[in-house]
Amino acid sequence: MGATEMSFEGNVTRSTRGGGLVVVANRLPVRWDDDSGQWVTSPGGLVSALSPVLQSRRGVWVGWPGVAGGSPDAFEVDGISQVPVPLTESEIDLFYEGFCNGTVWPLYHDAIRPVELHRHWWRPYVEVNRRFAEVVAATAEPSDSIWVQDYQLQLVPGMLRSMGLSNRIGFFLHIPFPPVEIFGRLPWREEILEGLLGADVVGFQTHRSLVNFGRCARSFTAATGPAETLSFGTRTITTETVPISIDSAKYVEEASAAVARAAATELRSELGNPESIILGVDRLDYTKGIDQRLRAFETLLADRPDLRGRVVMIQVAVPSRQNVGEYQVIREEIERIVGRINGAYGGSGWVPVHYYYRSLERTELIAHYLAADVMLVTPLRDGMNLVAKEYVAARTDDTGTLVLSEFAGAAEELKGATIVNPYDVDELADVLGASIDADASEQRSAMRMLRRRVERWDVHRWASHCLESIEGVGDAVL
Ligand code: ADP
Ligand code: G6P
Repeated sequence: MGATEMSFEGNVTRSTRGGGLVVVANRLPVRWDDDSGQWVTSPGGLVSALSPVLQSRRGVWVGWPGVAGGSPDAFEVDGISQVPVPLTESEIDLFYEGFCNGTVWPLYHDAIRPVELHRHWWRPYVEVNRRFAEVVAATAEPSDSIWVQDYQLQLVPGMLRSMGLSNRIGFFLHIPFPPVEIFGRLPWREEILEGLLGADVVGFQTHRSLVNFGRCARSFTAATGPAETLSFGTRTITTETVPISIDSAKYVEEASAAVARAAATELRSELGNPESIILGVDRLDYTKGIDQRLRAFETLLADRPDLRGRVVMIQVAVPSRQNVGEYQVIREEIERIVGRINGAYGGSGWVPVHYYYRSLERTELIAHYLAADVMLVTPLRDGMNLVAKEYVAARTDDTGTLVLSEFAGAAEELKGATIVNPYDVDELADVLGASIDADASEQRSAMRMLRRRVERWDVHRWASHCLESIEGVGDAVL
């Protein structure tokens, strides 16, 4: 999005915003960066996906500006009207790092890390959700559709109903909804589900999540009926599977530009023109399987001495949730493995793994996608994974191989990718070797199919579909 300037425009009025849409997400699409004194793009797939939608619809985005303390009035950056919800230092600790990312995040990702359950994290979750609901209630006109996003704000729909709002309300969960056996551990399972059931329409990335939600709602609340149309009290809640996507046309356009091609060629030459470039691009998160992926590359170098000096792996990791203990542990582990591989195999001008711990500018990111012969998207569990779709959209010449985890939501859609079990390091190493050796014509037909899917089902179609479902809700009292 490239937000670089702070431009406050006072309170956003209804006439300037229009659109009839209030999006509510924990993060605003920009965050204030003290170091540079500028608004910068917020990290993560939710912001990447929703920003182009809000830019084209001129709705309002309610969210946290990413720093502690009081925040200014509503403002506009990059054509998006933003209504900030302030969080204190303690709320960042207990609500954001605690309940959101120490309890819900691991729980909803197959409990692949210990799920911490603390009553002193739950209370701030309720309080912060209430603050968001109050800001939304003060911002939304009765005819506006309200669209609440993701796991940080699951209580907001129910709270808006308790406040007496009769607007059409949608909720979209960007991460997986877990099976009943895992979700059932949560001491506050009923409250969370009743919060979600305040929405008219609840959207999920995958059918599996939708089914899990239906089972949980019937098991732990008074909801009845099939997962797709649940009855709860006097209301009906529709659920649907709507996989999120990217602004494909924009990716195609940017990736086709001569400047992007030149940047990719330059990147390749800076790396010593290796025969093959393998790429991983992720937020540094233990769900992304970065450690397993590196171990697979290490295994490949051990098993295939012929590849030494000929292939290079680039791993880009965006700093994320750095105060959460498990994120510090996984960062150390990743850096240890990178050091071990480079120490064991590197030498005479060849560095096997190029590791960057930072965010990339969009043009740099696209240059990396264009330079990569093999893209490794191997999360242990992921709601969708937009990086997979971005890589596909950028490969306008139909070359390249996408190696995709069966545990990414994207695998339900991108069936033509090379699908792997990321826990199986030996299989991953074999697949990596085969992808490096692959025949270009085989790659072309697979990539063409993938590109067709990503271009056809883009983020605008995703948003139109979700918003039509919300706006089509018949029983809202206006
Ligand atoms: P998540 O939502 O878990 O972060 P996704 O793959 O769905 O994962 O979305 C990540 C988004 O962040 C993508 O749009 C991707 O382009 C962006 N991104 C990931 N790594 C980087 C990076 N190093 N620099 C800039 N953007 C990045
Ligand atoms: C994922 C989540 C988003 C979150 C993003 C970045 O995409 O689904 O809700 O905003 O990660 O994480 P952060 O904790 O930095 O907001």
